[in-house]
Amino acid sequence: MARLPIIVAPDPRLKVKAKPVDKVDAEIRQLMDDMMETMHAANGIGLAAPQVGVLKRVLVMDIAHEDEEPNPIRMANPEIVWASDEEELREEGCLSLPDQFAEVVRPKSVRVRYLDHENEVREMECIGLQAVCVQHEMDHLEGTLFVDRISALKRNMILRKLTKSRRGKPVTV
Ligand code: NI
Repeated sequence: MARLPIIVAPDPRLKVKAKPVDKVDAEIRQLMDDMMETMHAANGIGLAAPQVGVLKRVLVMDIAHEDEEPNPIRMANPEIVWASDEEELREEGCLSLPDQFAEVVRPKSVRVRYLDHENEVREMECIGLQAVCVQHEMDHLEGTLFVDRISALKRNMILRKLTKSRRGKPVTV
C-alpha cells in the first residue's frame, strides 16, 4: 500500500466530475487500499478519489472512533437510490480544506447502491454521521465541495484563508 498526496483547494482537479469505473479490478482495488491508508494516516473519516488526483468514481470511508473496531467501506460508482425527506444540519470539514468547518444541511438518511471491492453490487442504508460522510464524498465525485453548499460570503472567507496559508513565506533576495 502507499500513501497518496491529498490535493488542497483551490485546485481545478477538485471541481471536475469524475468518471465511472468499468469494473472493480486489481487496479481499482489497489487505489481503494491506497486511499484507505491515506485517509487513516490523515485522521479522516472519508476520502474520494479526486482528492488524490484520480478522477474516478471511487470513495472510501471509516467512521469508527479510534477506540472502536475499524469499519472500512470501499465504494465504486455509488448512487443514491433513496433519501429521507428529513434533513439534518451538521458541521463538516474536509481533508482538501484543512482546518475549515461549516454547517451543511443534508438528508438525514440515504440508501446507496455501489460496487464493493470485489465488484459486487451492494446497497447500504446510511444514517447520522455515515449519511453525512457518504453524501460529502459523493459530492467530491461531482466536483462539489462542502463550501459550495454554504453562503458565498462564508465560502469566500474559507477559500481566502486557504490561499493565504498556501502562499508561504516571502523570499528575501
Ligand atoms: Ni471532503
